[in-house]
Amino acid sequence: MLTKEQLKDIEGLTNLYVSAHNTQPAQWLYNNGHWILTEDVSRKLPVADESSKDHLISLGSSVESLNIALSKYKYQLVNTYMEFTPSFRAEYKMINCEEKDPLLAYLNQRKSYRGVFKKASADKKNKLIDCFSSDENIVLVTDNNEIKTIAEDFDKANYHFLSQQDYLSELYSWLRFNRNESNFFEDGLTPDAMSLNALESMGAKFILRPNIFQKLKKIKIAPILISEKTKICSATAIAFIIAPKEMDLLDQGRLFYRKWLEMTKIGFSLNPLSCLVDWPKTYSIYKNKLRLDDQQIIVNAFRVGPTPNKLPGRYRRPLQSVFQESL
Ligand SMILES: Cc1cc2nc3c(=O)[nH]c(=O)nc-3n(C[C@H](O)[C@H](O)[C@H](O)COP(=O)(O)O)c2cc1C
Repeated sequence: MLTKEQLKDIEGLTNLYVSAHNTQPAQWLYNNGHWILTEDVSRKLPVADESSKDHLISLGSSVESLNIALSKYKYQLVNTYMEFTPSFRAEYKMINCEEKDPLLAYLNQRKSYRGVFKKASADKKNKLIDCFSSDENIVLVTDNNEIKTIAEDFDKANYHFLSQQDYLSELYSWLRFNRNESNFFEDGLTPDAMSLNALESMGAKFILRPNIFQKLKKIKIAPILISEKTKICSATAIAFIIAPKEMDLLDQGRLFYRKWLEMTKIGFSLNPLSCLVDWPKTYSIYKNKLRLDDQQIIVNAFRVGPTPNKLPGRYRRPLQSVFQESL
């Protein structure tokens, strides 16, 4: 089966999976060719993600990350057991495969980018359109006026959520403004990950404090301060991820992660716009605008733009707290 070195390599690659607020809820156990995935319930987001949708999508991305990483050594996962309630548990066995996954090289290259994008060349934009315009799981919006409308709708949805004190308090607990915190490099969202410079970071630390935000709301300047319009309007495209209604959340997570990696492969960086699909009001606007039928759902939306020269650092839990091995 796997040597110790191979196992460490696989764990390092798997750990790069994506999770909402960078909560990293996956716990893996490896035992002689079998992998068991469980959840760390303390890493759920009871307010922002009451139904655990993002939690399960994050776990799904961890499964896909492991599956892609295993292909480096010509293995793939086969599901042998799945339980969603009362707690999550999935079991997999490894079987041989012929080919390395074409996305393997991009596990290490993919990172969220939350800054302003440089304008894509016409060739680059066309490449994105060529690669994804006939993909049944992607709807690309590339018209600048439509992107502007999405940015405005996103701002409304974001303001709707941030206006709820319990939502903002929960988010604030995952924002890492203090480098001296023990988990600064391990989880949550640092200023660097959010593309904030030192001054912007001080500003965000202040205005996102729940009691301060309430005051800014009263004097009506909160919506301007949290607007992401400039950043969203700099995107080459907004990509909506579409799935069949019956796809379970774990598979939605696997799909979400693969699409992100596929766009990484052709030189784009992404950032999810979860608020847009989490707020029922904007969800139904886009379900109609994209002319989806009753059998289709929107998993999430991304802003997509050319990968910049400088990307943020990596913030991940140490491997020994995520992976257990009984060899
Ligand atoms: C289900 C899900 C929802 C996410 N929603 C957002 C979001 O709304 N805004 C955002 O900036 N990032 C969002 N992310 C991205 C994560 O914050 C990001 O993947 C995580 O912080 C790890 O950082 P990395 O992508 O740079 O490796 C989401 C990720 C997942 C899996």
